[in-house]
Amino acid sequence: MEGINGTVFAYGQTASGKTYTMMGQEDQPGIIPQAIDDVFAYIREVFDREYLLRVSYLEIYNETIRDLLNPQQQDLRIHEDRKRGVYVSPLREEIVTTPKQVMKVIQRGEQARSYGSTEYNERSSRSHTVFQMIIESRDKNSGVTIPGRVRGSVTLSQLNLIDLAGSEKAASDLDRRKEGAFINKSLLTLGTVISRLTEDTVKPVSAIHIPFRDSKLTRLLQSSLSGNARVSVIATVSPPLPNLEETTNTLKFASRIKKVVLHAKQNQVLSEKALIQKYKLEIAELRHKLMETNDLLEQERALQDIGLERSIRMQYEERLHEGQLVRTALKERIDHLTRLILSSTSVTPKAILDWNAPLLEAAMAGVGVSHNIYTSPYSIMFM
Ligand SMILES: Nc1ncnc2c1ncn2[C@@H]1O[C@H](COP(=O)(O)OP(=O)(O)O)[C@@H](O)[C@H]1O
Ligand SMILES: [Mg+2]
Repeated sequence: MEGINGTVFAYGQTASGKTYTMMGQEDQPGIIPQAIDDVFAYIREVFDREYLLRVSYLEIYNETIRDLLNPQQQDLRIHEDRKRGVYVSPLREEIVTTPKQVMKVIQRGEQARSYGSTEYNERSSRSHTVFQMIIESRDKNSGVTIPGRVRGSVTLSQLNLIDLAGSEKAASDLDRRKEGAFINKSLLTLGTVISRLTEDTVKPVSAIHIPFRDSKLTRLLQSSLSGNARVSVIATVSPPLPNLEETTNTLKFASRIKKVVLHAKQNQVLSEKALIQKYKLEIAELRHKLMETNDLLEQERALQDIGLERSIRMQYEERLHEGQLVRTALKERIDHLTRLILSSTSVTPKAILDWNAPLLEAAMAGVGVSHNIYTSPYSIMFM
């Protein structure tokens, strides 16, 4: 919320509880709904800033990115520029104003992922889903002047909540390949990237080649993994004995990733390109136009009162009517834009969840192990 990027991902073999941990169920909501509630609760308590929130939801399957909020869209690519960092385009981003609305967006995304139950299971074990929330905020009191100037800087942060493919898909050895096992390039590369980042070497990290570009997932996570984010990894394991090998692999991955050094910085943009600035400016301009229209209407009315000849009066009346329509349209647009910008007074106090979750709170506070109430499977969280 203060301009620092955050990434949470769930790593573990299929059926070990990744989706359960991230999404949860109605009676036991996961990280995603809790995080959403937290964002809105935070906004409610900050009196001197205003916020704009937008979300996107995508899936990486077979090294192809699919926009779950706009499934027809093809050819999504990863781009990079100095201002925006790494981003996917064209990707639908939706502006959201209530926790419920965010959950609805996610549900819509989930519907785009369902392809019949067998295929769903197979596909969900192979695909990675990335839910992203972009949080823009600015000082409520930093002014806007017309024409075309917005003062003050915008604080920008990204929250990535990621449900990875089953870690058993990271098969890399030749045997598995012979068996025709599916190799998940993104997961495999994630492992390699983490190993490189944590290799014991005298060289500084900047001098080591890290293959972020070898897969879609690592490319997307590049800035987080190379340090500009707070990253939490949830490792989920499944206790039954036949899963021993995968459990060991997951724990190895988790202990390696713990060594990655992060230097999260606060992002500030002066750019007038931030959506919140653009909207503030548009609101100010519309208000200005509204004032002008009001003045004009006043003048017309005054003229009308003078008592003119009928045909001229009809003309004035028509103009008056047009002016009123313009005024209504301007007012509606101003209202609409104003509603998109959130502040402590405009945020709904209605959370998605109405409960206290001491277990997850403990986990979020960085306490090493959080056993779920359930005996199996259970999750471990590394901060
Ligand atoms: N902590 C838990 N408590 C209760 N049920 C769980 C728990 N974790 C996972 N499950 C159940 O186990 C099954 C597999 O979990 P899931 O999250 O789908 O695994 P994954 O996403 O890792 O493949 C699901 O039916 C889920 O509801
Ligand atoms: Mg899953």
